[in-house]
Amino acid sequence: MSVNMEELEVFCKQLPKIELHAHLSGSITRECLHEIYKKRKEAEPSIELEDPMIVIPPGKVDYDLETFFPLFSKYIYQLCNDVQSVRYSTKRVLQDFEADGVAYLELRTTPREFKETGMSKEQYVETVLESIEQYEKDASTSMKTVLLLSVDRRDSFQKALECIDLAIRYKYRGVVGVDLCGDPMKGDVTIFREVFSKAQENGLGVTLHFAEAAKTSNDEELLVLLSFKPDRIGHVIHVSDAIRAKISRRKLALELCISCNVHAKMITGSFQDHHFRDWWVEKQCPLILCTDDVGVFCSPLSNEYTIVAQHFGLTRLQLWELSFQTISPIFSGEEEKIRLRNLMLSWREGNKL
Ligand code: IMP
Ligand code: ZN
Repeated sequence: MSVNMEELEVFCKQLPKIELHAHLSGSITRECLHEIYKKRKEAEPSIELEDPMIVIPPGKVDYDLETFFPLFSKYIYQLCNDVQSVRYSTKRVLQDFEADGVAYLELRTTPREFKETGMSKEQYVETVLESIEQYEKDASTSMKTVLLLSVDRRDSFQKALECIDLAIRYKYRGVVGVDLCGDPMKGDVTIFREVFSKAQENGLGVTLHFAEAAKTSNDEELLVLLSFKPDRIGHVIHVSDAIRAKISRRKLALELCISCNVHAKMITGSFQDHHFRDWWVEKQCPLILCTDDVGVFCSPLSNEYTIVAQHFGLTRLQLWELSFQTISPIFSGEEEKIRLRNLMLSWREGNKL
């Protein structure tokens, strides 16, 4: 590795960054899953669960849309299914983001219930919120974390409404928005119109996974999603010229997950072929670099900044500007935006950029 590359990595790690698209369960490292596994195995030796180091081998990042989603439904959700494991994994995820130089984190998660342990969706959300509150009580932490609740594309209207109602109920404890995620090959998005407008009416931010899989990214579906009036959209891979023009006109904030898209083969080619380039050149929409699932794809946010410097030639000042312009699209209010602007301006001054 050349000295310049090492210096770039240090710069990207130290740069105060904003993470706006990170799924909680997808952000848990294999090491953390392994610790949870060991503890559970000690407590219940008869438990029929494989070691995460075997199920998700270290170094493996080539999960595609077919192998990625079962990782959660068939394994991670069975492993992390009680208060202790949710609490522990949330704390570890927060530590990892902060150690990578993240100053503000919008973590998202799908409320789920665990029949085996009797944990309800409400208890799940409370446990995650408590873990965040506990983490922020520690005087040595300065990262601000808020929560988004995700509707899964496979949800029924009723289930989706339940999720939005939970988000509204927990606004006072740091839920600031809602998301639509899940397997892009599944579900009928038209049924969610009402639930997302309820979220908006109640002052929540709305972000949607958008045009992830070629098969379901037809204009018909994408127009429905745009009609929900999202504040931000994620991935934005398979868009026609007509959809692209609409996104540009609206200047929608785009959550781009470069490593995830490359490793999961959601785009054709590699890093240098990512659509970050087109949107960067076009300069119409705020671009937000995001990890999506750092536990699976093993690329922390600092590495996403390194990637755009390496493959698209961004200078250090441009990297700083890229991070700075992600302040406006956050879902927290003006007070937090001011804190982040001050933090970033003084960092820029201190680093003589
Ligand atoms: P959780 O919501 O905290 O349980 O995080 C894992 C969940 O996030 C997965 O089960 C998926 O539903 C969702 N997810 C993670 N990454 C993606 C993605 O790239 N596209 C769509 N959904 C995703
Ligand atoms: Zn995602």
